[in-house]
Order: sequence, then C-alpha cells, then structure tokens
Amino acid sequence: MQIQHYPIAKTFAQEGVPENITTMGLAPSDNPFIPNIKQSYVFRREPLREVLAFLNDPMGDALNVSGPTGSGKTSLICEIAGRLNWPVQSLTGRGKMEFTDLTGHYKLVSSAPGEAPSMQFQYGPLAKAMKEGHICLLNEIDRIDPSEITGLNDVLEGRPLVLEQNGGEVIKPHPHFRFIATGNSVGNGDVTGLYQSVQQQDIAAMDRYRFTVVQYPDPEDELAVLKGAAPSIPVSILECMIKVANDIRRLFVGEDGNGGELAVTMSTRSLCRWASLMTVFQGSENPVQYALQNSFMRRCSPEEAAAVDRIIKDTFGLS
Ligand SMILES: Nc1ncnc2c1ncn2[C@@H]1O[C@H](COP(=O)(O)OP(=O)(O)OP(=O)(O)O)[C@@H](O)[C@H]1O
Ligand SMILES: [Mg+2]
Repeated sequence: MQIQHYPIAKTFAQEGVPENITTMGLAPSDNPFIPNIKQSYVFRREPLREVLAFLNDPMGDALNVSGPTGSGKTSLICEIAGRLNWPVQSLTGRGKMEFTDLTGHYKLVSSAPGEAPSMQFQYGPLAKAMKEGHICLLNEIDRIDPSEITGLNDVLEGRPLVLEQNGGEVIKPHPHFRFIATGNSVGNGDVTGLYQSVQQQDIAAMDRYRFTVVQYPDPEDELAVLKGAAPSIPVSILECMIKVANDIRRLFVGEDGNGGELAVTMSTRSLCRWASLMTVFQGSENPVQYALQNSFMRRCSPEEAAAVDRIIKDTFGLS
C-alpha cells in the first residue's frame, strides 16, 4: 500500500489549520478493513493532533487512548483511519482473553459447505496487522488479565512476533503497523470504583505507551455531535439535553470523583441515541421523555430514575 498525504484542514474539517499541512495516510484501496466513516463526525483538536502525530511517526511507541465510557475513543481511531484509508484490525478485550486470540491459532475449517474440514492456521488481528501494515486496535485493554498479554511487550518494543504455534513463523513489523489500545483507565486499575471489571496493568507494559485522553466533549462540541445525529431537533432542545447529560455525569462521578448518587452515566453514545430516538418518536405525546425512557432510563434503578426525572423537569422547565 502506497503512502499518501492528506490535508488536515479538509480531511478532518479543522478550521484554522493551514491548507498545506498534511498528514500521512495510505492511497485509497478496496481493503475491507478500512473503517466506514460518518461524514458528520466531529474531531476535537487535541486528541486529533495526538493521534495524527502518533500515526505519522510512532517513534517506537504504542498509543493508549483512555477516557470514560462512550466518550468517543474507539470511534476517534476508526474515523481517522477511515479518512486516511488505513486498515484497522480491531478486537475487544475481556477477562478470559489469551494472547493467542491476538496472534492466531489452528482451527478446523472447511473450504466449502459440506466439505471435510481440515486444520488450518488462522492469523489473529495482531499478526495480520503486523504482516500487512494495518492498525491493531485493542479496545478495553484494561479488562484483560495483564499476565495474558505480557507477550505484547516484545511487539510494543518493535521486535518481531514469533508464532510458536505456526512452526515458529517470524513476523516482522511492517513499517505501517501501529498499535493502539483503548480503555477506561490508564492502566492503573480503577482507582475510582466506577468501572468494575478494570484490572491493574503491568507497569512495564504501560511504559511503552504514549497517552491520549478523550473526555466527554465540551458543550459546544457535543452540540455539533448531536446536530449530526439528529439534525431535525431544535438547537434549544439539544442544548437542554447536553445540560441534562452533564448533570448526570456530575452525579455519577460524585464531588470527590469516587462515585456519587448515580451508578449510571450518560455518555455521548447515549446522548446520540436519545436524540436519534426523539426523531423517531416525534409524533408521541412527549418525545423528549419517551425517547429518554427508551434510550437510557429503563436501565436505571427506581431511585436513579427519580433523580434523572428531577433533572429533566428542572432543565426543561416541566412541572
Ligand atoms: N466526536 C464525535 N462525533 C460524532 N459522534 C460521536 C463523537 N464521539 C462519540 N460519538 C458517538 O458516540 C458513540 C460512542 O463512541 P465510541 O464507541 O467511540 O466510545 P468509546 O469511548 O470507545 O466507548 P467505550 O468506553 O464504551 O468503549 C459513537 O458511535 C458515536 O455515535
Ligand atoms: Mg470503545
């Protein structure tokens, strides 16, 4: 895949960036691993700058993108990669994950329906990305038992991947290979108690990353995100919804940052769902409340639902 440079201002709709400033990407191709893009996606200056700097020249590092749930970590990487025609091999971490889920294993496969199956080696996302020069995106890395992925350290160091299971095959990292992990913590376990399955990661492993933080957008950016998700909803209503979300987030995190009155929070993802469903339920008696029930409220306990209801009534001026 040929390298191609893309103008930042136009590719990522960045006002104020000179038109001649470009960033590295790959020439357009029909590679099925290039993520689809959403034209209305809103790029915030700082995380965009940090991810592009990493993609241009990782200098031997990996990238760790952290932030609260549904703040836009995974989509940031996929939307950037999609615009730069950079294929992404992605997978999501979980407690029981093993290193071979990343590198590959033998599987019984059959070449056509009804054909007798045979054992074949199937490369995992990390091996594929290293071979072909793709981005390997490991989501929720902090849910994985760290002892399972110490094998990653060599790869993060720029060393080849050795596939013992495949006759000791050695995969050297392609120059376009990049490794990006996302998670709710920065590898230090969950100091707040807000994200229960987060595990403390190995210090040696964390030392191989640069860090980018994606918080919930500030109200101005979040308004642009919501306008993209539900263009027909009046701005005054979208503004109230963002205020509700920020009140809920405050009650989730609590005054000391260690958890507050609510055990659920309203992410940008939930906000977008709320706005989109409002469009669907526009004919109902109270689309704001109905869409909120359908998108968010039904997973709250009765006490939490009462607290959210209070916020809604105060914000929208309902009695
Ligand atoms: N800047 C943005 N512009 C447009 N939509 C956005 C933006 N940020 C987030 N979203 C919306 O929020 C959804 C959730 O984002 P994403 O999956 O990237 O969150 P995340 O931080 O990876 O969440 P999790 O912690 O649960 O993995 C996206 O599918 C998208 O619809
Ligand atoms: Mg994610």
